Amino acid sequence: MQSLNSPLPFPDRLPDGYHYQGEPVKFDPVRHLQLEPPESVLRLDDLGYGPDQIKNCSTDFAVSSAVRLLSDEGVEVMLDVARSLKKYAVNCERIENMVRGGTYQSEFLRDFCMSREVTEFLGEIFKTPVAPHTMPLHLGHLNFAPDDLDRAVDKWHYDTLGLDYVLMLSDPTELQGGDFQYFLGTRDEAQEFSDKGIPIPEERAVSPNFPGAGYAIVLHGNMVVHRTTRLTQRAERITLVNGYVPLNSQVEDVCRFSDLTLVDPHHVLFAEWARHKAWLSVGKLHQLIETIPYTDDRQIITEHLKRAIADIETAIDDINEDKDNASMIHYGD
Ligand SMILES: [Fe+2]
Repeated sequence: MQSLNSPLPFPDRLPDGYHYQGEPVKFDPVRHLQLEPPESVLRLDDLGYGPDQIKNCSTDFAVSSAVRLLSDEGVEVMLDVARSLKKYAVNCERIENMVRGGTYQSEFLRDFCMSREVTEFLGEIFKTPVAPHTMPLHLGHLNFAPDDLDRAVDKWHYDTLGLDYVLMLSDPTELQGGDFQYFLGTRDEAQEFSDKGIPIPEERAVSPNFPGAGYAIVLHGNMVVHRTTRLTQRAERITLVNGYVPLNSQVEDVCRFSDLTLVDPHHVLFAEWARHKAWLSVGKLHQLIETIPYTDDRQIITEHLKRAIADIETAIDDINEDKDNASMIHYGD
């Protein structure tokens, strides 16, 4: 028997240093959404993953062609929101300008990212029930074009979370360069190219077509290696990445903590990581309560209990570990 975890609501309190900026428009799914499914999707085996790797994943979905999420009106409001948040942009090794934690600052962004309509629409595409990510830092992540045009907008990498989408807020037809691309291959193959110092071959880099602003590519983000190429002409280029968690908490948690310690404020990250891992353990504890076998075998009962609290123990170790050696996983431009 497989029980599903319950989605977490957005926290009802804000971390220190964050406040809602006050906005003229409230998110309205009827006016601001326009949900149109993809024409095609790739599965993990299409990228070369084998059954042993796929069975540990929450879904065998890999990547979609463009889906429409925002209406024209939705794009217009979201662009205003993104521009107003740009003053909070930070940088990291991979990305020069990005805003995280925007859902603690914009109610419009928060309500879009938490939208039930979008979540159910994506659950159909992921082929597994999902909820908006338990860590608000993984909601409504905004990427802006770098000031340095020699830099890729984002280097080849896989995500620190499992399921997400990349939504184009700028009109892609007006951009020169700045192509979102994914690698037709596995993470191991990307690593092999990187180890040999060979760039990922152009013929294995797919640039899906974004018909316009408001369209997104849905992604199994920790399994599909992807990047955004450099812009060849200076332009405003804004994308929004929203993360999701599978409601089946029995699958292995793929969220990475270490990379985030380099980019996110610790007073927010540590609490969010604790919340995320506690949520996973709650799901496993529910499963235990429903399925624990009647047995006098101490080892079996102990194993069930240990497994149910393993996520919390991991979080305790992560938060107390010395992170001086933390590094960001990527494969370069
Ligand atoms: Fe990514």
